[in-house]
Amino acid sequence: MQVLHFFVGILIISFLSSSCNDTPTTSISKEEKPPSLHSVFQDDFYVGAALSKDHILGTDSEANALLEKEFNSITPENIMKWMYIHPAPDSFDFKIPDQFIDLANKNKMQTVGHALVWHSQLAPWVEEITDSTILMQQLEKHITTIVQHFKGRIDAWDVVNEALNEDGTMRESMFYKVLGDDYVTEAFRIAQKVDPDVELYYNDYNIEQKAKREGAIRLIKKIQEAGVKIDGVGIQGHWSLLGASVELIEEAIEDYAALGIKVMFTELDVTALPNPWDLEGAEVSQNFEDFEGKEFMDPFRAGLPDSMQVKMADRYEELFALFLKHADKIDRITFWGVNDGHSWLNGWPIKGRTNYPLLFDRNFQPKKAYHQVMALKEKTTPKSQN
Ligand code: XIL
Repeated sequence: MQVLHFFVGILIISFLSSSCNDTPTTSISKEEKPPSLHSVFQDDFYVGAALSKDHILGTDSEANALLEKEFNSITPENIMKWMYIHPAPDSFDFKIPDQFIDLANKNKMQTVGHALVWHSQLAPWVEEITDSTILMQQLEKHITTIVQHFKGRIDAWDVVNEALNEDGTMRESMFYKVLGDDYVTEAFRIAQKVDPDVELYYNDYNIEQKAKREGAIRLIKKIQEAGVKIDGVGIQGHWSLLGASVELIEEAIEDYAALGIKVMFTELDVTALPNPWDLEGAEVSQNFEDFEGKEFMDPFRAGLPDSMQVKMADRYEELFALFLKHADKIDRITFWGVNDGHSWLNGWPIKGRTNYPLLFDRNFQPKKAYHQVMALKEKTTPKSQN
């Protein structure tokens, strides 16, 4: 009898434990995994974030946890810019950029290098060059060394950033002044030669606006007509509650897609703060420190009122509704920062303000705007079901 009890006991225990083991814990945790930006938009576009040095080094664990949960594409906010990656003629610093790639590999994220050629955050030694042959040699060395270093390990490059004026003419950057207007095509040609497989983009702000858009289209066509590869255009998307209008952005999406290239929104943020000088876009050289009435320019130091949260949420909703409508043309939406506290808009165009331009607040909590953007997917059919 005792033996029978023993066997029955064993049977019950093994039944219980096997039914526990049979429970597909992985699929349960998968089902229970809370939705995130990248999971909700997985059939539509990559959802990315720009990363500071701290994010790349992993010193802010809360930021990194949020990053890993919500995003599937990353762009370095600063560390691949010329002054950091190529600080002296014969010195390249790949230490943190390599860690950026490691972070992406660990989390299976898309990587976008930013930016090979830009007039801002240049190394001072480059700014001194006035001879076109020398500058061309240095440009070639810069692009070749960097693209070669990351060959096969990075998905895409912003090859040239901000080459245009607001009226669509070429910006009088030092590259333009010394090399003339072919420098953009040449930069793409060099990058393509070194790594024919990596994606190559032109990136700029306000290129949804009509005149500047026409300039960008001319520039892109020029690259294409030279038989050089360009895979996509990045509209930065540093916007406000009022602009750019969705109508204008929609025209831009259609115009750029008609060139046969991918459209991306690469530095998305929506400022919540007043802009007394009617500055539009993201001209980094515009920076104001001390001026009369500065306090009126920083009205939400103590927090963003509910009425403003609503406006921000509605603005983000209209933008994402448009992005979803054109998901077949849009490859990626990248936010310029992870949370409000990280945003460059706390320091630009006026230093030391408190801004609220992203989908996550300073405590890493999703804002009303996040929930409204996520809820949009419930109203639309995924691309794969079209
Ligand atoms: C900004 C960074 O966010 C800041 O940290 C830095 O001080 C200045 O540059 N357009 C671009 C980005 O292409 O590289 C800029 O990033 C913002 C405007």
